[in-house]
Amino acid sequence: MKWRAYPQDVLPLWVAEMDVPQAEPVVRALTDALRRGDTGYPAGTAYAEALARFAADRWGWDGLAVGRTAIVPDVMLGAVEMLKLVTGRGDAVVVNCPVYPPFYQFVRNMDRRVEEAPLDADGRLDPAALAAAFARATAGGRSAAYLLCSPHNPTGTLHTAAELAAVAALAREHGVRVVVDEIHAPVVAGGATFVPYLSVPGGEDGLSLLSASKAWNLPGLKAAVAVAGPDSAADLARLPEEVSHGPSHLGIIAHTAALDHARDWLDAVLAGLDANRRSLAALLAEHLPGVRHRPGEATYLAWLDCRALGLGDEPADAFLERGRVALNAGTSFGTGGAGHVRLNLATSPEVLAEAVRRMAKAVE
Ligand SMILES: Cc1ncc(COP(=O)(O)O)c(C=O)c1O
Repeated sequence: MKWRAYPQDVLPLWVAEMDVPQAEPVVRALTDALRRGDTGYPAGTAYAEALARFAADRWGWDGLAVGRTAIVPDVMLGAVEMLKLVTGRGDAVVVNCPVYPPFYQFVRNMDRRVEEAPLDADGRLDPAALAAAFARATAGGRSAAYLLCSPHNPTGTLHTAAELAAVAALAREHGVRVVVDEIHAPVVAGGATFVPYLSVPGGEDGLSLLSASKAWNLPGLKAAVAVAGPDSAADLARLPEEVSHGPSHLGIIAHTAALDHARDWLDAVLAGLDANRRSLAALLAEHLPGVRHRPGEATYLAWLDCRALGLGDEPADAFLERGRVALNAGTSFGTGGAGHVRLNLATSPEVLAEAVRRMAKAVE
């Protein structure tokens, strides 16, 4: 999608796809499956088992119980299914704006309303804003859910264990159920560690969505896993069986191979992303000093505050029209998005440098 949606003279740094050659173990697993004629429906728990191994090795978390998992078509459709388990039509879903635009689109498309709890000025979870949103969401005794993005897209904020525990306590206090999108979990900066929501005190009744899709660049090979904690296992058990028909069998093979056998590849990608994060900061300081940017500790997305450039609410328009660089439009991320753009830095250093130079030209 990234390189097909715009004319050829446009550099695309928008949708969350990475410009990387695929990991050999993934290529091999897929090729072997095709050679075997193994192209039927998905079955079994191999994906969840690989995730449990990865979670134990990378995050020191032994709490991913394969018996409390389900395969789902992808992370967003999995989130929709989890929200259906804990809310009804017309109920509210709380989100931390600015946030990944499909959080609005998918929630509204399932006849729930979105209640915004803005991140604070540092791009972190704001307990006061969340408490107010939880109170609005549950007014009149309604059920409500909180769709937490961890790590956060677009700011790259990596939530701490203390922040997540505070959020869990608040949600319990208000009777709000937490569904957490942890798709970016493996993509952290050097020295940083992701904390699974279900591992924090109070998170036991959460429902999490995990996938190898972002970290190994597999979004075209659809699959994800829904994970319940000990206190939400009964909810996940109500998931209709037909949801498990949605993921692709080849997707599951690819994701499983990635988690088990392409960890060196991931480490090389993470090192490249660290270098790109540093180089983006330097490029912006040199060519676009008016842009404010706080490098995130996770994801390969950068959230750029362009309000000082005088490009109006949607600077992505000028960067595209005058600079021939495609970025994500800030207003699509909800309240707090005006005057911002999201840049995908998972590309070559050359493309990244050329993109920033072109963006600078667009404001000359
Ligand atoms: C936070 C977040 N959730 C979900 C998705 C989409 O995942 P999927 O394709 O598995 O639905 C993305 C893609 O960029 C994302 O950033």
